Amino acid sequence: MIVRYKLASRRDAPAIAAMSRDLIEFGVGWSWRTPRVAHAIVDPDTVVVKAIVGTRAVGFGIMGFSDEEAHLELLAVTRDKRRRGIGRGLVDWLEDTALAAGIGIVRLEVREIRLGERRFYERLGYRAIAVTPQYYAGREAAVRMAKDLWERVGAPAGPEDGPDDGPDDGPDDDSL
Ligand SMILES: CC(C)(COP(=O)(O)OP(=O)(O)OC[C@H]1O[C@@H](n2cnc3c(N)ncnc32)[C@H](O)[C@@H]1OP(=O)(O)O)[C@@H](O)C(=O)NCCC(=O)NCCS
Repeated sequence: MIVRYKLASRRDAPAIAAMSRDLIEFGVGWSWRTPRVAHAIVDPDTVVVKAIVGTRAVGFGIMGFSDEEAHLELLAVTRDKRRRGIGRGLVDWLEDTALAAGIGIVRLEVREIRLGERRFYERLGYRAIAVTPQYYAGREAAVRMAKDLWERVGAPAGPEDGPDDGPDDGPDDDSL
């Protein structure tokens, strides 16, 4: 199976929004609808990547960038294409983009009840730094995770460069 990773275009927004609804946001309210995804696609501080098999989009990732950190907002692979390395490929692509932009820290939130997804991120080098109760739709807890990308490329991290354990760190938006 040949998987290609490409920047999404505005034409991809409806399909990506539908994947977010069906694969990520079920049960906590659909917030990443087509206009929000379309905005992310054209936002210069956000990167939206899609994974393609043949002509079909089988996964996507959305990463937002600030001056010093990146935030993995959303990531999903269609159910029929899981456990074939596509999720890892999407994250690698986004992490490479962050490194190219001089950013060494990636943060994310994942639903606490999604044990498989948490294992996935742990496997990719992310570590849990906090649990935020009632994060999703005021009822579901999130596990906040972070990764120091400089460790991957061997660059020494200064004492203030790594993700810390502060309870209020990281963005407080509704990313999943
Ligand atoms: C998380 C997700 C993107 C992973 O995509 P994927 O393409 O299946 O992941 P990969 O095949 O690249 O997995 C890489 C490794 O992560 C680990 N892993 C992945 N899914 C796992 C699971 N459900 N349980 C345990 N470990 C898992 C495995 O070690 C795997 O390697 P292996 O298959 O050789 O054992 C996918 O499960 C998904 O779309 N989930 C629903 C959406 C979601 O909740 N996203 C996260 C929050 S935005």
